[in-house]
Amino acid sequence: MDELLHLARRMMLCAHVPYSKFHVGAAVRAEDGTIHGGCNIENAAYPQGLCAEASAIAAMVAAGQKRILECLVVGPGPEVITPCGGCRQKLREFAGDELPVHLCGPDGLHRTVTLGQLLPMSFGPHHLGKP
Ligand code: THU
Repeated sequence: MDELLHLARRMMLCAHVPYSKFHVGAAVRAEDGTIHGGCNIENAAYPQGLCAEASAIAAMVAAGQKRILECLVVGPGPEVITPCGGCRQKLREFAGDELPVHLCGPDGLHRTVTLGQLLPMSFGPHHLGKP
């Protein structure tokens, strides 16, 4: 957890957020124990922006990993940040219902939930016959 929080906080500082000014950092732990971070990357063409979770997942896949064991998101608060709907589905591609998702603010951990709580009855790889 601490390692993920440290990386995600560092990622927050890298966020490209000229429009919202809302810095988000994320980190995932992959099956081989490596951790990968990402930040949100906004775009003048607003819908082209990328969330921090998506950017962390991209870094993990680029490093050759395909399974997420733990995920952490940190936002500026005071309201605890939760992954957006699209990011919940992106996480689902590489993890099951049991995935712990740590929701953090500037002061640290607020709460831990599972992906199953965030995205119940999800559509996933198994629907297409994939393990
Ligand atoms: N954002 C994330 O990076 N992750 C989330 O889970 C929620 C929202 C970003 C997208 C946008 O750059 C900013 O936060 C405001 O919506």
